[in-house]
Amino acid sequence: MKRFSRIIGLFSLIFGVGYVSGIGVNWGTQTSHPLSPSIVVQMLKDNGIQKVKLFGAEEGPLNALKNTGIQVMVGIQDDMLPSLATDMKAAETWVSKNVSSYINDGVNISYVAVGNEPFLKAYNGSYLQSTLPALQNIQGALVKAGLGNNVKVTIPLNADVYESGGKPSDADFRADIKSLVLSIVKFLDNNASPFTVNIYPFISLYNDPNFPIDYAFFEGTSSPVIDGSTTYTNTLDANHDTLVWALKKNGFGNMPIIIGEIGWPSDGDMNANVQYAQKFNQGLVNHISSGVGTPMRPGPIDAYLFSLIDEDEKSIEPGNFERHWGIFTFDGQAKYQLKLGNSSLVPAKGVKYLQKKWCVMNPSASLQDPNVASSVSFACGNADCTSLGYKTSCSDLDARGNISYAFNSYYQKNDQDGRACGFSNLGTITNIDPSTPSCRFPIMIEVSSGFSRRLWRVQEHGFAVLASVFLLFLMKLV
Ligand SMILES: *[C@@H]1O[C@H](CO)[C@@H](O)[C@H](O)[C@H]1NC(C)=O
Ligand SMILES: *[C@@H]1O[C@H](CO)[C@@H](O)[C@H](O)[C@H]1NC(C)=O
Ligand SMILES: *[C@@H]1O[C@H](CO)[C@@H](O)[C@H](O)[C@H]1NC(C)=O
Ligand SMILES: *[C@@H]1O[C@H](CO)[C@@H](O)[C@H](O)[C@H]1NC(C)=O
Ligand SMILES: *[C@@H]1O[C@H](CO)[C@@H](O)[C@H](O)[C@H]1NC(C)=O
Repeated sequence: MKRFSRIIGLFSLIFGVGYVSGIGVNWGTQTSHPLSPSIVVQMLKDNGIQKVKLFGAEEGPLNALKNTGIQVMVGIQDDMLPSLATDMKAAETWVSKNVSSYINDGVNISYVAVGNEPFLKAYNGSYLQSTLPALQNIQGALVKAGLGNNVKVTIPLNADVYESGGKPSDADFRADIKSLVLSIVKFLDNNASPFTVNIYPFISLYNDPNFPIDYAFFEGTSSPVIDGSTTYTNTLDANHDTLVWALKKNGFGNMPIIIGEIGWPSDGDMNANVQYAQKFNQGLVNHISSGVGTPMRPGPIDAYLFSLIDEDEKSIEPGNFERHWGIFTFDGQAKYQLKLGNSSLVPAKGVKYLQKKWCVMNPSASLQDPNVASSVSFACGNADCTSLGYKTSCSDLDARGNISYAFNSYYQKNDQDGRACGFSNLGTITNIDPSTPSCRFPIMIEVSSGFSRRLWRVQEHGFAVLASVFLLFLMKLV
């Protein structure tokens, strides 16, 4: 215990920013019906979570974090990087509005994440030019604001910025961006700032059917990776140490590392389920609280779980699992037993639900009705059907159940507006819960006033599309 706190003390000394033991969480807000920030902050407190990572600097969450002592990482979206790169004044305004003013109000902001995975291959190099200059300008603005010692910059990068032939010690940064990443690393090093990396064993499994599944977890594996005298039995350690090796080979072997995102989704894919998510996240939490660290970096690991709450408006381009990373559901219910500290997860308190009503397929409607397919695809396109599909939580539904699930999702997303349960008379409202033991037909939550305008836009857009779909049907009939 003593040695442990000494190590932590050393960390604070070297890096200026206090190191908080225990796992942090990512708090994303790409959701149609966000829990009110005060409820979320109460959840953080009730669960003993002392670090939170945000993807922006939204007013609601930051105000709710005032005077809580919780350490905060605020974020800058990628699309702001070009303007921050070319305009020092814009960087100063960003820091003044989104950092200084909140710190003065008692928000414990310790990090600014400049961009989020800006070098993803999917972005076609869009942010290669602007990321480093934006980082430099934000750092300059922090120094100018007198925050240079208390607030550190970093860039959460996807683990694909480095690669290895198989063993961590083979590692180096990806050849096509190596010199850029090294310039960033040098800049971070000069400013006593950490390297932030997002590591996803689930994605390794999702992308490679031959990936040995037990290597993703923390319970030993039949296929360990032997690297010299070191044996790796889990992906996290191996992936993390691949980064350590890449840094070391380039002269930055002591650079502090933050794992910005790590977690396992609970639905939307055959390997995304509650059982695996529980197993991975509990193994991760235990690994981190053991303080053992990785073979290349014994000692505390600084990591943020992805994620705190499910987000129903995340893009599903990466896969249907994308909306199911939360350890809590959208309404703050624990999905499974997880011990973060001494006790099980504490759910959200004071959540207000809409009425106990669901939209389902009218029992008298026919499955052969020609409007079924288009109604379902409309509902799924505008709401969320990612729990339907092969080996997902709702895969046991029959055809009517599937259709009802889609209808209900759209109806709830539109705050149970009766017009959102029309579907050419295929839909009907019921007060009998259609949920099955594994498949939850959710009831939507009420949204605090701060968020209502955004919601209204979603709804209006939905009805505009609905109207045009009906028009198409009419035209077909004529
Ligand atoms: C502060 O952050 C918010 C949310 O991320 C962003 O929309 C806004 O533009 C930022 N403010 C300034 C002055 O850049
Ligand atoms: C802010 O967080 C740091 C790191 O956890 C901690 O050392 C410090 O006491 C916190 N400050 C406040 C005002 O709570
Ligand atoms: C990247 O390129 C692909 C193929 O040309 C394109 O479909 C995609 O929209 C581009 N993405 C971005 C972010 O520019
Ligand atoms: C967990 O339990 C230990 C020993 O009983 C205690 O010292 C510690 O304060 C507890 N931690 C939390 C977060 O409750
Ligand atoms: C229900 O929907 C899922 C996903 O769209 C599909 O795979 C399954 O075959 C459907 N089941 C029936 C009985 O239609």
